[in-house]
Amino acid sequence: MTFLITAGPTREAIDPVRYISNRSSGKMGYAIAEAGLDAGHEVILISGPVNLEPPLNTKFISVSTSDEMFEAVHQHTDSSDICVLCAAVADYKPAKVSSVKIKKGTARLSLELIPTRDILQSLGQRQDREFLLVGFAAETDQLEANGTKKLREKNCDIIIANDARIAMESDENELLILFRDGEKKKISRSPKQFLARELVKIFSNSQQKSLTKKM
Ligand code: CTP
Repeated sequence: MTFLITAGPTREAIDPVRYISNRSSGKMGYAIAEAGLDAGHEVILISGPVNLEPPLNTKFISVSTSDEMFEAVHQHTDSSDICVLCAAVADYKPAKVSSVKIKKGTARLSLELIPTRDILQSLGQRQDREFLLVGFAAETDQLEANGTKKLREKNCDIIIANDARIAMESDENELLILFRDGEKKKISRSPKQFLARELVKIFSNSQQKSLTKKM
């Protein structure tokens, strides 16, 4: 099977030297890419800027902004069986990008932000989709309620809810896996490599099941 995986943060430019971003390390997405390859799958890894080497044998696409990630994902979904959107995409970007460096002053400065496009939601809206759609939900509270809301609103097959305070910049994570049919599964705090191998098995089984149902 072919996995499409997004990973890492995005950067939204303010001017040529400044941007808005977040603390995502990309470790979870890269671990899933590695585990997918180890299990014999093809992997397309679409990544924002991180300090990690892409695993050998992935089709690696490096992006910076949420718009670049959006375009890259849409270009590759039709050749994918399982799309795992793990990236911490910025929710807002500056309304205007200054073409020159903004100079310092003594007055207050406000930045106007506009929403970015939601990549996961845009895939969930595709009526014709044949791929399994997996999203992540980075939360700080009410994991199950917030994860279930994202599962429905973004029309995913699976949402992996996790506590952002445990997950961000860490080698470990704890997961609550929520399935479309209401089933749920918890995996207690473990190294991201271990979690990634478990997730790859879960995703492959779910995709297999949905293919069998369609036959
Ligand atoms: N996501 C995306 N495009 C965006 C924002 C989020 O594809 N512009 C995806 C993420 O990759 C993740 C899922 O949506 O799979 C949920 O992301 P998360 O940051 O947890 O939630 P948001 O939708 O951004 O909502 P909120 O920040 O309010 O929790």
